[in-house]
Amino acid sequence: MADDADLDARIARLDLTAKVRLLTGATMFTLRGDDSVGLGEMAFSDGPTGVRGLKFIGGDEVALLPNATLIASAWDEELAHEVGEILADEAARQRIHVVLGPTINLHRSPLGGRLFEAYSEDPLLTGRLAAAYVKGLQGKGIGACLKHLVANEAETERHTVNSVVDEATLRELYLLPFEIAVDDSEPWSIMAAYNDVNGVPATEHDAVNNGIVKGEWGWDGLLMSDWFATKSAGPAANGGLDLVMPGPDGPWGTALVAAVEAGEVAESMVDDHLRRLLRLADRVGALDEPRSWRDDVPSPTDPVRREQLSRIAARGMTVLQNRDVLPLDAGSTVALVGRHAVETVDMGGGSAQVRPPHQVSVAEGLAELFGPRLTVVDGVEVRTRPVPATVTMVVDPRTDERGIRCVAIGADGAVVADTHVPDSMVSFGADDDFPVPPSHARLSARVPGTGRREVGVVGVGAWTVTVAGRTHDVALSLESDDVGEAILRPPGWTTVVDSDGPVEVEAEVDLTHVRFGRFGLVARPAPVPAEDAIASAVAAAAAVDVAVVVVGLTEEQETEAADKSTLALPGAQDALVAAVAAAARRTVVVVNAATPVLMPWLDDVDAVLWAGIPGQEGGHAVAAALLGLVEPAGRLVTSFPTHDGGSPAWRVVPEDGVLAYAEGPFVGYRGHRWGAAPEPAFWFGHGLGYGTWRYGAPEVAVDGEFVSVAVPVENTSGRPSREVVQVYLDPEEDGQPVRLVGWAAHEVPPGRTQEVVVRCDARLWRRWDAVQHAWVRLEGAGRLLVARGLGDIRASIPFTSKSAQKTDAALTR
Ligand code: BGC
Repeated sequence: MADDADLDARIARLDLTAKVRLLTGATMFTLRGDDSVGLGEMAFSDGPTGVRGLKFIGGDEVALLPNATLIASAWDEELAHEVGEILADEAARQRIHVVLGPTINLHRSPLGGRLFEAYSEDPLLTGRLAAAYVKGLQGKGIGACLKHLVANEAETERHTVNSVVDEATLRELYLLPFEIAVDDSEPWSIMAAYNDVNGVPATEHDAVNNGIVKGEWGWDGLLMSDWFATKSAGPAANGGLDLVMPGPDGPWGTALVAAVEAGEVAESMVDDHLRRLLRLADRVGALDEPRSWRDDVPSPTDPVRREQLSRIAARGMTVLQNRDVLPLDAGSTVALVGRHAVETVDMGGGSAQVRPPHQVSVAEGLAELFGPRLTVVDGVEVRTRPVPATVTMVVDPRTDERGIRCVAIGADGAVVADTHVPDSMVSFGADDDFPVPPSHARLSARVPGTGRREVGVVGVGAWTVTVAGRTHDVALSLESDDVGEAILRPPGWTTVVDSDGPVEVEAEVDLTHVRFGRFGLVARPAPVPAEDAIASAVAAAAAVDVAVVVVGLTEEQETEAADKSTLALPGAQDALVAAVAAAARRTVVVVNAATPVLMPWLDDVDAVLWAGIPGQEGGHAVAAALLGLVEPAGRLVTSFPTHDGGSPAWRVVPEDGVLAYAEGPFVGYRGHRWGAAPEPAFWFGHGLGYGTWRYGAPEVAVDGEFVSVAVPVENTSGRPSREVVQVYLDPEEDGQPVRLVGWAAHEVPPGRTQEVVVRCDARLWRRWDAVQHAWVRLEGAGRLLVARGLGDIRASIPFTSKSAQKTDAALTR
């Protein structure tokens, strides 16, 4: 590794312009090299649940992992480490130096659209899992990037919102996962958020970036901006930002050179940014000799990889309720119901999206295990916006291959490209392969099948769409001024056709006023009225031993760039569950969503399995969990409120540009316990697994500032099971919320007792004193709660500073 003197010698070889040139990206996801200092090009890729590569759309097929909340729900640092290692392999295969993850913002309000990408409402769980993930990645020589620093818990007005957070809450909650991950895993990069923090853009936040992260924590990595987030030259360069992304344009370049020449920014500051960039290059093998890349990594379809992805997903799945019906008896007859059963949602929306080789639906997963004993019934509609067709619904009319034909036309009317696309969408203006930007594009496909089908287009612009010989003029515009909306949430239009055979669709879009975006064709069976779908489901459910209804959210709710307005399941899904529960002998509900949903039918169903957004092997994972082939041993990572508004922090819509974190530290279970919101439907930490547990008397041991709790747990069930012992500290000190201070898990054979030792994390034994601007150790009295989520407390131990000094014999060893 090059030391600072070596890096400084290289920096001294460059003039100011050459230095500044390196501090803005070269393209959307790459950085420039410079031979004169031995710097090679570097490549970055999103993101937390798969390494998409350099292209936003139409890139290579890559492994799609379970989403972050599902991974986190296993409460298992080894598993998070394994995830980091898989991502490192995926990155190496694609020659990517830095993976833009993990996302470690907290689940503040359950309405946050992007929570699926982040771990939890709890800073300790988030920070520790993030550290394990970072170690998995960086242990294999691929850089991690903690994001988004800081107070970026919602998406509404995300480029301009000012998150207003008091100093203690910022430290104790929102900065804490970053602090823990920096402390425990030394991440090589961090991403500064879009939002302002207490009136200062995160990309310019001297107090956070320089004062705390680089100063107090002594972090020596590279701080890059979120994409298009940088608003200034001088203030951002002085405020701790090292690198502007993406490139090649941006607010630095000549403006930063001028700011240095005018004395607004010291050249030593530019040198520090460059030193950090060169250090990153050195760490990821882009300084001097280019790194060697491993090619012997499993492909996304390799059986080894598929087993891993299925197991990781199933491990985090969480049994919320079980009246003696799960695991399912493999000999039963099953009616599987729901749109999410046949089109399982396997990833959230936005920059975390990848192009997986396949997406196994729950219907496919269960069919393998139940064969003819399984009946599948599509459910009610779950989306309001058109989405591009699945590739089975479109055929290139020229080649008869699955996918569409794309003809791009230049300003002079000449065809610049005429290609087959093995997908139903393309992108223009951003990471496309066209030699010149097209002024028009024509997308065409044949939609196979017969009967009523819904077809249409997605993408911003003026369209001329010809469906089965009939032409429609359609103008589609954006709903907001979010720069990413044209890619992340493009608008759409559809029509229904009824035909005895395949339907031809040709759609031409005028791109002359469009900077960039995602464009595609819609094709699917036409929707049926909810009453008809429910009637079919009821008939099927009444005829079998058990009905399994799969409900959930889609990328309309769980996405970057938009928040939710309700936790209710979209469409008539609640009515579907209620009707099936009334007709079926036993009803199991599987929730295919990353974040809390309301369950008005909870008392009427026998079991609820929360399945997260389970990735490419999702259907296999759900099947394994339902049958108990892998124990769904998850514990919730966020509290599920009983009703809309029933969380301590709710609003995500800024008022006059300000999003006030007015609940202070009372977020999630901390706020529920405090009384800031009613008792939740399910607490953070809740999860039944398939075991039952008797807890023995815990013993507390204190060694200096380290506290540990040893608890004997007896598996009273007839099967092996994994228990997660959670320890919370409930301080008496005024204004201090209850908090998770540690957890430990053990797999225990049936009938056996295992002593589980939880080492409490001293970083949670502090409060931030906003007068002294310093951490203060919590010394007063309080209680240690040994719990399976705060709704199921198994022991409550008084804890005083006396016991901390080992004077209370009853509580210490
Ligand atoms: C997201 C980042 C992401 C970046 C690059 C932004 O919109 O907020 O998380 O890494 O895009 O795709």
